[in-house]
Formats: sequence, C-alpha cells, structure tokens
Amino acid sequence: MAVTLMAASCAQNKTPKYLVLYYSQTNTTKAVAQELCKRLGADIEEITLVEPYDGTYQETIERSSRERAAGQLPKINPISSKLDDYDVIFFGYPIWFGTIALPAASALKELDFSGKTIVPFCSFGSGGLEAGIKDFKAAQPKANILPGYGVRAARIDAIPTEVDRFLKEGGFIEGDYEKYADFSAARPATEAEVAIYDAAVGTYPMIQEKATNVASRPIPGGTEYLFDTNAPGIQIYVTALDGKEPFFTRVVR
Ligand SMILES: Cc1cc2nc3c(=O)[nH]c(=O)nc-3n(C[C@H](O)[C@H](O)[C@H](O)COP(=O)(O)O)c2cc1C
Repeated sequence: MAVTLMAASCAQNKTPKYLVLYYSQTNTTKAVAQELCKRLGADIEEITLVEPYDGTYQETIERSSRERAAGQLPKINPISSKLDDYDVIFFGYPIWFGTIALPAASALKELDFSGKTIVPFCSFGSGGLEAGIKDFKAAQPKANILPGYGVRAARIDAIPTEVDRFLKEGGFIEGDYEKYADFSAARPATEAEVAIYDAAVGTYPMIQEKATNVASRPIPGGTEYLFDTNAPGIQIYVTALDGKEPFFTRVVR
C-alpha cells in the first residue's frame, strides 16, 4: 500500500496530503498525534465534545460506563477539516473498555470515511489496538484501513522512536530502518522465558494471565516475545533488552 501511495503521488507529481484527526482525554493520544503531525507535515485537528468529560479519571469512567450501558455516544462538535482534501487520514483515539473511546466512536458514526485511506492510532493502559481496528472496520466498512499503531500510556517516551519506525515501515516517510525478523513458531515457554514474562507483566492489575507458549524474534539490542497465555486468545508482547528490565508493549485480547 505504501508503494501504491508513493507511486500515485509521483505520477501526480505532488506529495500526499495528510490529516491527523484525533480525540484525547488525558493527552497521551495527543502526544502521538503531535508526533505524526510533526513527522508528516500534516494538518491536525482535535475532536471535541459538546459536553466534555471534565471531571476526574474516576468520573470519566463512571459517566462513560453509564453512557455505554445506555447505548449512548457523547455528542461531538462539528470538525472543520474537509476530509476530501486529504489523501490519508490518521485517526487517533484512546482505548476505552477494550475498544475505541466513545468520543472517537461518535466521530466514526458521524463522519464518512468511505473510499478514504485511514491509518488508525491509539493509546491504552495495556492494549486494545487489534479490537479497536476490528470495530473501526465494522463502523467504516468502505474505508481502506491500513495497519495501525498503538502505545501504552506508560511508554509515552517511546513515541518518537516508534512513530519514526512506523512511518518508515508504512512508506509515509523515507529513511532507513532495521527490518525485524519474523517471530519463530510458538513453543512452550522455558522457565527463563516465564520469568521474563512475569517480570514484564509484574503487578499490572489488569493482567492475571499466566504465560504458556511463546514465539520470539531478535530485535536490535535484545529479544521480542509474543506470549500465549492460559486465557484463550489473550497474547502479550514483551520486549527484553540486554541488561534492562523486560517490559510489555501490548496485550492482544
Ligand atoms: C473510561 C476509560 C476506559 C478505559 N479502558 C481501558 C481499557 O479497556 N484498556 C486499556 O488498556 N486502557 C483503558 N483505559 C486507559 C486509556 O486507554 C489510556 O490511559 C490512554 O492512554 C488514554 O489516552 P488519552 O490520554 O489520549 O486520553 C481507559 C481509560 C478510560 C478513561
């Protein structure tokens, strides 16, 4: 897809026009949006609510839980960007309740991305990239949705490096990057690998699962693992860099 985009832009002798459109409640998704904007020279617009969630974190959880239970979505203010002006739209959101946050789900309901090329991005406490994209595809079946990027809020410092790699991999910006090997086939995790998993997951309150099988691949300075767990379908990506504490990068549910 990246190649097609570049070919199209070469043929028309113009650089693609990018829009970064996002919702962010506590500024983590905003940090990704701003990095994308900077690296792409994109236009940027924040989705805002008629009635913002302006209370504490707990109040946001409570109000959004009530709205979810009632099947309601919060009303968004009209956006000023004209989607037709753009070749690619980067659409960002936090993960709430395992999927796209309600304000961004509102935007997906109101906007029409049919025929548009969309790159989803998100931030989360532990995960939700895959489930969010699945729901995105269901909400906008006629959009051309490309692979997305997601980052844990606890790893905000990783955003510049990861966004750089993500944009190069997708062919949105030029530059060298090291291609990672494919993951090995999954096999039962050794005791040492289980210890790496346990150290990475630590006492994270939302993760109770135990490691079972694992696939791995070398990455610069260490190893990346993809652990299966005793909960069917729940997998956890863990990075172990030489001499550093291992950490998890996302949970797939
Ligand atoms: C109402 C609500 C529900 C959330 N649900 C999840 C969840 O299901 N899974 C998760 O990993 N993080 C969850 N989070 C954490 C946010 O996804 C995380 O803090 C994110 O980085 C916030 O992005 P923002 O700063 O752009 O608003 C939730 C946060 C809120 C406020």
